[in-house]
Amino acid sequence: MKKILIIGASGFIGNALYKELNSYFDTYGTYRTDNKLLEKNQKFFQYDMELEDISILLDNLKPTIIISALRGNFNSQLDVHQRIINWIKVHKCKLVFVSSANVFDSFSNYPSYEYDKTLSDSVYGRFKIKIENALMRLPTNKYVITRVPMIFGATTPRVQELKTLHDLKAPIEVFPNVIINVTSIAKFTQQIHYIINRNKKGVFHLGSTDLIYHLDLIKEICDTLQLDDPIYKQVYDSNSDRYLAVLPKDNKLPKNLQITTQEVIDSVVVN
Ligand SMILES: NC(=O)c1ccc[n+]([C@@H]2O[C@H](COP(=O)([O-])OP(=O)(O)OC[C@H]3O[C@@H](n4cnc5c(N)ncnc54)[C@H](OP(=O)(O)O)[C@@H]3O)[C@@H](O)[C@H]2O)c1
Repeated sequence: MKKILIIGASGFIGNALYKELNSYFDTYGTYRTDNKLLEKNQKFFQYDMELEDISILLDNLKPTIIISALRGNFNSQLDVHQRIINWIKVHKCKLVFVSSANVFDSFSNYPSYEYDKTLSDSVYGRFKIKIENALMRLPTNKYVITRVPMIFGATTPRVQELKTLHDLKAPIEVFPNVIINVTSIAKFTQQIHYIINRNKKGVFHLGSTDLIYHLDLIKEICDTLQLDDPIYKQVYDSNSDRYLAVLPKDNKLPKNLQITTQEVIDSVVVN
């Protein structure tokens, strides 16, 4: 049976993945912030990347799949990932890395595909590229890189934030000339489940099959949430339309695991 360790399993993505995978695989997770509930859970380990060496946990647990869904100091994250890479090189194990559409944020004239060259203007994007490049130096069967756009869903931090800004009558930032794709947390976790189950490898673009302007997306989400008269603050960060979208070409998932922007918009309310 596959033994999965999710690093950052108390976070938004890590926890959703834990819930999705736990019944099917021998699944473990890490959390950093003290948590009475997780403390009692034998499958969770408290781990702080600023203080501890991840190799100790890996040596003890011997996972066959590691999923990293961490946030925090970029240098510490680089260090953790380098240690994980050194570990998987000599063990029967692969790393599933949650990367971001931002690895392409320098290229603005078209959407990006799996094996396009990455280039980023942002510190965040460049940090993700460093980890991706380190992984790509390994044999392909040692890693899965998932490039993920903005994630929505009824209980997601992004939707909570829209509701809070609306309640506070605060402006919601929208980017009228940024064209993106998006996904839902439910579809994302199903996709990762499939990728693990089928022993997939390489680079996956897990965004919706169609694209939408950021402004239109946020307006439609606010409509769906029935937020009355939201205040929008339009932010123009370039003179012309700019793409920030990750589309699949080489590593497409089956039809039932693809998602449209309309389905993402519909996912912001509980059905
Ligand atoms: N959310 C999105 O829309 C999105 C889209 C694309 C890519 N991503 C990527 O997905 C990853 C996870 O994002 P998320 O939204 O799930 O983040 P999140 O909710 O903030 O979760 C972050 C996780 O990292 C843990 N963590 C923080 N500092 C740590 C430390 N010093 N040592 C060990 N663990 C630490 C947190 O533990 P505690 O909570 O217990 O402190 C938590 O489990 C990130 O790499 C992000 O770039 C996210």
